[in-house]
Amino acid sequence: MKSLFARKPIAVLQEDPNGLKRVLGAGDLVMLAIGAVIGAGIFGAIGTAAAGQIDAAGTVIRQPAGPALVFSFLLLGGVCALAALCYAELASMIPQAGSAYAYCYATLGELVAWIIGWDLILEYAVGNVAVAISWGDYFKTLTGGFLHLPVWLTTGYRTALLSADPGVHGLLATAPRVAGIPILVNVPAAAIVLLVTLVLLRGAKESSRANNVMVAVKLLALGLFIAAGLTKINPANYTPFAPGGFTGIHNGAAIVFFAYIGFDAISTAAEETKNPQRNLPIGILGGLAICTIIYVVVGFVLTGMVSYKELDPSVHADPLAYALQSTGMQGAAWLVALGAVFSMTAVLLVFQYGQPRIFYAMARDGLLPKFAGRVHARTRVPYVTTIITGVLVAAWSLIGDAGETYDLTNIGTLFAFALVCVGVLVLRHTDPDRPRPFRVPFVWPVCLGGAAACLFVMKGLPPQAWVRFGWWLAIGIALYFVYGFRNSVLRRSAAASSP
Ligand code: ALA
Repeated sequence: MKSLFARKPIAVLQEDPNGLKRVLGAGDLVMLAIGAVIGAGIFGAIGTAAAGQIDAAGTVIRQPAGPALVFSFLLLGGVCALAALCYAELASMIPQAGSAYAYCYATLGELVAWIIGWDLILEYAVGNVAVAISWGDYFKTLTGGFLHLPVWLTTGYRTALLSADPGVHGLLATAPRVAGIPILVNVPAAAIVLLVTLVLLRGAKESSRANNVMVAVKLLALGLFIAAGLTKINPANYTPFAPGGFTGIHNGAAIVFFAYIGFDAISTAAEETKNPQRNLPIGILGGLAICTIIYVVVGFVLTGMVSYKELDPSVHADPLAYALQSTGMQGAAWLVALGAVFSMTAVLLVFQYGQPRIFYAMARDGLLPKFAGRVHARTRVPYVTTIITGVLVAAWSLIGDAGETYDLTNIGTLFAFALVCVGVLVLRHTDPDRPRPFRVPFVWPVCLGGAAACLFVMKGLPPQAWVRFGWWLAIGIALYFVYGFRNSVLRRSAAASSP
């Protein structure tokens, strides 16, 4: 029983023959945060949060936040700030690839680490399914003038199945059939995932110059949206301000949390940060604050331009471009769609890059089969896991629904955040003397408050997301006992060295 909670010594975790240089300042971290964060959440999920969602049977899946969506963003800014501080402490003392998985192996033991690694699939791979689908929606807007693909080639089966819009739901009856099954596939979404996978297989690295270009594109696209949208505000759209009351704000926060995912990734730059005690919190909190302000302003402008009801995702899945189009600004809509497509490609790259490396770390520890840890001799890319991730994400993007995948990603990521918050407290207790280049201030309220806040946001997700998450965890735990428990490198070496 005790071996289930065997912890990987931090010294082992830290061994890094290449030893990275401390070169990043607070400003670089802010740029990294913006680069990793701004994507499908603000370009796509924002519409669902504002309008709420009902399914094809008329059941309310989530209440609308309406213009009060701005409060959802503010709430999330606070929640993520608490979790971000906790990430920063662990990242600065355990600076190693593998993110929360590696931190938990050192703090909460192998079983919890496995659960986190399994859970991170929801953040990275399933998250990318949602980004790819949203990418496809903006791609349609962008190419609508000259590329006329049949609807059944740009709409996933699950989207048609769940849509409350009779036109979209009706595709189930009108789409071509093979062996009686309606063919409804989102070809653009799957194609971009495969393209990104090919780029990564060639050994593309995240570079700070490429990141700075992407940050500029993102800020220009959202800046244009804000500047153009401000001229089309109709104050009548702000009434009612909170059509779903607090539940609407809460449900809205639970889905638009997706817009914040990714800032945890910058904590992995801790090892390369100059003066981490000062720069990590400034960088992480500064990046979060800037994103929160941008999101609040975008939310305010969007819900002022059109009625929140028009942002129903089953009718308009490209809310920012739609709002510009419907207020007569075709040119701006096209430019924002272009910016959205670029922004989301960057997010896809970051996450398709991250997932195979988490699998790789797990395979190296013996928790996944050895073949998953294979690295290409020339490119040094973990190619097996890169290909597996690419094929699975592309296949799911082909038939998946964005709303469902946002929910699953969010519940998994929030759970990981909560465990990281608890992990900081545990490690302060079990390993108090280890040097901490960055220490969470007010550790008890920040950690416990962070974990509780994450659970609270999770509570705003639809019951179905909880059921699916429960199944996901159950399958993960079963797999651990079937494979990882027997093959763990840590346990095997402990068994070999015991008399
Ligand atoms: N935060 C990232 C996005 O919104 C995942 O696309």
